[in-house]
Amino acid sequence: MRWTKKDILDIESLSTDEITLLLETASGLKEISDRPVKKVPTLRGKTIVLFFLEPSTRTRISFDIAAKRMSADSISIAASSSSIVKGETLIDTAKNIEAMRPDILVVRHSYAGAPHLLSKHLDISVINAGDGMHAHPSQALLDMMTVREVKGKLEGLQVAIIGDVAHSRVARSDIVGFTKMGASVCVSGPPTMIPPGIESLGARISANVDAAVEEADVIIMLRIQKERQQRFLMSSEREYSFRYGLNRSRLQRIKPDALIMHPGPMNRGVEIAPEAADGPFSVILEQVTNGVALRMAMFYLLAGGKRNADSD
Ligand code: CP
Repeated sequence: MRWTKKDILDIESLSTDEITLLLETASGLKEISDRPVKKVPTLRGKTIVLFFLEPSTRTRISFDIAAKRMSADSISIAASSSSIVKGETLIDTAKNIEAMRPDILVVRHSYAGAPHLLSKHLDISVINAGDGMHAHPSQALLDMMTVREVKGKLEGLQVAIIGDVAHSRVARSDIVGFTKMGASVCVSGPPTMIPPGIESLGARISANVDAAVEEADVIIMLRIQKERQQRFLMSSEREYSFRYGLNRSRLQRIKPDALIMHPGPMNRGVEIAPEAADGPFSVILEQVTNGVALRMAMFYLLAGGKRNADSD
């Protein structure tokens, strides 16, 4: 199939064929990062602007590395060093960036819907790198890529997402993505962190974290997002670890071929014990490695990389 979408804003708007194309393209591009010279000329002459108005380590750096591996020029700007601090609106800032003729704008914003708003005002491609508590499509895609790589499939798997689901854009995008691709998703955690209506995205709620973890083929642990909570929704981190974390005791009861995942950043000893994060079941760093390939695939498909590659 040919890629036709201008933007990648959320998982809802991607068809299963488009998700499969992204995952297969990323798998094909992954080996570039293992070459002695980690660069192909495919997106030579393309310009990609990374506009991050919220902190990020993995997403920003991997988009930047992905652009460089494809020979695109990438420019990073942060809100604090842009004229947004002087009162310029987000749309004016984005339209001024567009006037300099980049090909893709990657944007992270604390407001849900900000990338969607920009996509309506811009002719260039917009990629959502995380908007508020709404969506994180590239994370969900790299999560699906990682599971597919290890398990060979997504269909029929049991995925458990545990923790602060309420404040997690990763959880929302993962629920939609894994469900679309035929997996069964269960969410569990403190009742104060399970949002009402989350079932409408396709997830089942389990009040029993132990059962959710023990039945799962894939366990995705979530960080407590204190920065998005009005007040800490548990009495203590120690209690959280005991009642809801993937602690040593729960780790001993997971399936022998289960995968442990975390989008990062982790709070070690809170939602995940070091034995779980660093042990043989963990694919957390594989997620990060795959994040580069997946973002290379996004650029490749959006910037017409196939046409360029054909003419190289
Ligand atoms: N997973 C993720 O979005 O991590 P960063 O906030 O470090 O980009």
